[in-house]
This record gives sequence, structure tokens and C-alpha cells, in this order.
Amino acid sequence: MRHVARPEATYTRAEMSVETKSKAAPKKPAVHPNTWVYYDGEFGRYHDIKLGLMTHALHYGTGVFEGIRAYWNVKEEQLFLLEAPAHYDRMRRSANIMRFKLPHSTEELVNITLEVLRRNQFKSDVYIRPLLFTASEEIGVRLHNIAHSFLIYAIPFGNYVEIEGGLRCMVSTWRRVPDQSLPARAKITGSYAQSALAKSEANEAGFDEAIVLTVDGHVSEGSAENLFMIKDGTVVTPPVTDDILEGITRTLIIGLIKDELGLPVVERSIDRTELYTCDELLLCGTGAQVAPVIEVDRRTVGNGKVGEFTQELQNIYFGAVRGETPKYKDWTIPVY
Ligand SMILES: Cc1ncc(COP(=O)(O)O)c(C=O)c1O
Repeated sequence: MRHVARPEATYTRAEMSVETKSKAAPKKPAVHPNTWVYYDGEFGRYHDIKLGLMTHALHYGTGVFEGIRAYWNVKEEQLFLLEAPAHYDRMRRSANIMRFKLPHSTEELVNITLEVLRRNQFKSDVYIRPLLFTASEEIGVRLHNIAHSFLIYAIPFGNYVEIEGGLRCMVSTWRRVPDQSLPARAKITGSYAQSALAKSEANEAGFDEAIVLTVDGHVSEGSAENLFMIKDGTVVTPPVTDDILEGITRTLIIGLIKDELGLPVVERSIDRTELYTCDELLLCGTGAQVAPVIEVDRRTVGNGKVGEFTQELQNIYFGAVRGETPKYKDWTIPVY
């Protein structure tokens, strides 16, 4: 681990700029903006952090991470950090499963995240990535007797998937990682090889997103999203025992469905063919936000258009996460 600080004065204006005007961040920036990051106890610049080629987690997938969003509110000229304590609490649970220890309390982690955002002076929607990983530069797969590193970086970020017209999904041929082998409720870097297999299979077959089944054939979730289905006025979502990541957005959405839409929410296993016969379907997550699904395996969902409840839910969700709804102010922390 090397962490070399450069004097402030050597940065050009372009290097320091991390602002984007557009809603969607550029897909592949040629050079990553030289943002402020947090790495092993210090704030530094992205380009100054050097990780060795032998970094353990790079080879073995032995890291735990989070994805957190902050939303820019144009009217208030304020950035709202969404549900950060819940993300760091989940990260602590993921770490515990992997026998890692987060180097800070949740409160400290939230404050560090706020500091990263403030230093970068973001004025757009932002995605924040905390990562705790095995950092020793040595060969040998294991979890014990090994050094760890912890980092937080943040980048301007738009929509992760299409959220307006509705997604066309396929049920993946790849099954979700089972709790018996790679616990899905822990957000482990290595598990995302499974997500990547499913996502690429779907995209390369012409679909927008994958829906993944458990090993025993029940609907689990999307490649990086939880799933909700609406049928005959009841909302159904897979239980936490069906190898899902216990989504922070999922919890928020369950609350909104009950409180704002007045619909009952049932957590139960879902059969594959229920996806073909429900009235509305949606995927949700920090990245995906609230994403309507209009087709599964070339079968239309409902009338093939974005569902009425889903649309309403999406509107309410965006109002809340952008800090526009007084009732849900406690979901967010103002950054500036
Ligand atoms: C596999 C998986 N499921 C579900 C989710 C949704 O979780 P959250 O709402 O906490 O972002 C994510 C996103 O992080 C994910 O990667």
C-alpha cells in the first residue's frame, strides 16, 4: 500500500474538476477525474493511490463493499446523502460474515463520506463506493492472518438502468449464489462474478437486465436489484431467505408501498411463471432506483406498459431521495 500525497498547488483546474452537468455520467471517461478519496485513514487524490498487482482481493474476490447514492437538488442547491447509516450497518454485517472488521463506527463512516463529498464539491447526482478488502500482496486464498484496506471513492453518476420506458428482462440461466456457498446477504465482491455472468448473458441476448432464480428455482432478484411483483392489488417480494441481498432500497420501497400506495406487501417465494402473469413488475436498488419491468422472457408484463402503481412509486421515491418531501427528510443527510 502506497499513499503518496502531492502538494495541492500542483493540480491543474481540469484535474480538480469533478462536476458534470448532464444527468447521466459519461460511460467510460478516458481518465478518471482526480477526485478526493479516503484510503486507509487519510484523504488523498484518486491518482495518487497505488495498489499493488498482487493485492489479495483483486485475485480472490475477498472484499465487502457498498453502493450509496447522493442526489443533487437543483432548487435547494443541496446534495442529499441517502440512507448512509443503513449502508454502513449492512457493510458491518457483510464484514462480520467474512471475518473482517470495519475500521470505523457507522457515525464516523458517514462523516468521512460527507467529507469526501464536500472536498469534491459535487453538484450532480453521485455514487459512493466504500470497499473493505484483503490487501496483503501475497499468494494464498484465505480470510485469516491477512491485512485489510478500506477506501471510499465517489463519482458523478446518472441512471444505472433505464427507468422511464421499462426494462425487458430475461430469466438468467445462471442461478443466484446460495447462502450455503457464498452468502448473498453479504455484499461480497466475489459474488458479483455471478451478477456479471447474468447481466452479460442478458445484454448479449438483447435484453436490458437479468432476473436470477435461486438454486431451487424460485425468483431471487435482478443482477444488482431486488424485485417486486404486483398482482391483484397485492405486492409480493422474495423473502430474505431466497438468497437476495437485503436491499436498503427494498426496505424503503416496502414502507412506501404500505404508507403511500396503501397496498399490502407479502414476502414469499415467487415462481418463475408468476413473472409472466403478474400485473406489474419492478426492480429496485441504489443503482437501479425504481425501474419498471415491461417484459420477461419475451412475454409482456401486464399491458406491456409501465405499471400505474410502479409509476406512482417511482415519483414518490424520487421526491423523497432528492430531499423534496418533508416527511422523508430523515432518509437523507444534507452534504453542504
Ligand atoms: C445483488 C443485489 N441485489 C440487490 C441490490 C439492491 O440493494 P440496495 O437497495 O441496498 O442498493 C443490489 C445493489 O446494491 C445488489 O447488488
